[in-house]
Amino acid sequence: MKAVQFSEYGGPEVLHVVEVDEPHAGPGQVRIAVRAAGVNPSDWKRLAGQYREFEEVTFPSGIGVEASGIVDEVGPGVSNVSVGDAVFGCGEHAMAMAQYAVLTHWAKKPDDLSFEVAGGLPVIADTATRALDEVGVKSGETLLVSGASGGIGSAVLQFARLRGITVIGTASAQKHDYLRELGAIPTTYGPGLAERVRELAPKGVDAALDLAGSGIISELIEIVGDPSRVLSVADFSAPQYGAKFSSGPPKDLERVLADVARLCSEGLFRLRVEQTFPLEQTVEAQEVSAKGHVTGKLIISVA
Ligand SMILES: NC(=O)c1ccc[n+]([C@@H]2O[C@H](COP(=O)([O-])OP(=O)(O)OC[C@H]3O[C@@H](n4cnc5c(N)ncnc54)[C@H](OP(=O)(O)O)[C@@H]3O)[C@@H](O)[C@H]2O)c1
Repeated sequence: MKAVQFSEYGGPEVLHVVEVDEPHAGPGQVRIAVRAAGVNPSDWKRLAGQYREFEEVTFPSGIGVEASGIVDEVGPGVSNVSVGDAVFGCGEHAMAMAQYAVLTHWAKKPDDLSFEVAGGLPVIADTATRALDEVGVKSGETLLVSGASGGIGSAVLQFARLRGITVIGTASAQKHDYLRELGAIPTTYGPGLAERVRELAPKGVDAALDLAGSGIISELIEIVGDPSRVLSVADFSAPQYGAKFSSGPPKDLERVLADVARLCSEGLFRLRVEQTFPLEQTVEAQEVSAKGHVTGKLIISVA
């Protein structure tokens, strides 16, 4: 089968489409014929060796953690899905950008949800749910979200709205209509953030999420007034300031996936796909992601 792989750390240019043996579903797993795979910043960060402290990559390695497709192998012990079912979910961090992929967590894809959108949902739904839960923000409270227009931000804004939380989100000015569409009050990031937030929320904000990793943890703590109510998913230094850092592994991913699928079908959640690339253009997709200004999600389409 065709798969995207890399054999050395580097930029997206070290990725190549190669012929490799097909993977097979082990116990508790399914194999899918991939239709779409989501692009995540963790792809190019892992490729660049930024996670070497936690995971030394064994070369050659695949890339991509989430995908949608049609089940074509069911591993021992799996009873909730059959060959031919359309599903979306996650696997090991080296599998999705290929013709076949093994999933460890999945949910059925509703007929009215496209493979492209479904392939981009798992990471954002899991991370947004976890971040909102762990920062402990409740209905009636106000949340500041730094980096609100990317994949995770898009999910945080919509889940927060459903939870009755008021959100002030930061993005560059041309994306403010997008934030409004997702129910947030937009403002720009950069110098003067505290003043702008004070004007928008004179009574203050109750919590803040840093999704951009732009080095503003101490500023967010000053704005919120309580480090325990500031959480980052992108800045490993957050705990040094008394703030929280949230990372996987997912806790209840099947439920999160089923919930987001239902919300999509009910018209209560949507994902903007900024651009879809064929498997052969995975390098270009990772280059766009690495520039750090994606709105919604980038998707790799696998024919
Ligand atoms: N810890 C975890 O469990 C976990 C899980 C998933 C992802 N992550 C991390 O979370 C981060 C966000 O992921 P993502 O998928 O949402 O990324 P993304 O889709 O690439 O989003 C990037 C967004 O960041 C915004 N941005 C860029 N510079 C900014 C700045 N200085 N201040 C505020 N916003 C800025 C951009 O908005 P503009 O275009 O308006 O600049 C863009 O919308 C990444 O670092 C990723 O590695 C962590």
